[in-house]
Amino acid sequence: MRPLFIAVEGLDGSGGTTQVKLLADWLRAQGRPVHVTAEPSTGPVGRFIRQALADPQARVGDAVLPYLFAADRRDHLDREVLPALERGEHVVSDRYKHSSLAYQSLCMGLSQVAELNSRFRAPDLTLLLDLDPETCLQRILARGEPRDRFEALDRLRAVHDSYEAVVVLTRSQGERVCRVDAQGSVEQVHARVVAAVKDRASA
Ligand code: TMP
Repeated sequence: MRPLFIAVEGLDGSGGTTQVKLLADWLRAQGRPVHVTAEPSTGPVGRFIRQALADPQARVGDAVLPYLFAADRRDHLDREVLPALERGEHVVSDRYKHSSLAYQSLCMGLSQVAELNSRFRAPDLTLLLDLDPETCLQRILARGEPRDRFEALDRLRAVHDSYEAVVVLTRSQGERVCRVDAQGSVEQVHARVVAAVKDRASA
């Protein structure tokens, strides 16, 4: 299998982080190294974003976030993603530019966020974990962690609708986006993820 850049997307609580780990293990077992990563990244801008999202007192308005996420994405691509692909590794990222298109378009409008992100390399495959907002919120609450600004039910519903528009837009631009049913057990969802990756690898 040639090196693939795969982004895993979805609402908070849709199981992305778990599926990224399982997918990376599966890809490694196929014989090629895997670089596992995430956005916001661990770089300077990514760390700043995580602090801003977690702190209700942070004076970083929603209108500023699209630019911060884009800056982090440039840094993440240059520092981690592109070098790993050059080395012949698969890259699996827990969130990438579809997150900006879905979340930041609520504030900025989809065409503007798309323009801001248009120079970033498209993934070879984007997997959208599809789960209803109510179930996502139950899972977020069950985790018992402090919630960030995107984790209220009305917000999750808005982001869910927004992802629908993002799928239509990015597919029309030739991107490979696969919707994965994220209901059921972790193993069931993993099997669907693997099927989508095999399908992409054989294309
Ligand atoms: P995480 O919960 O997956 O670590 O991501 C942190 C939050 O950041 C999550 O609510 C989604 C949000 N986010 C955006 O709004 N835009 C982006 O471009 C990215 C990568 C994440």
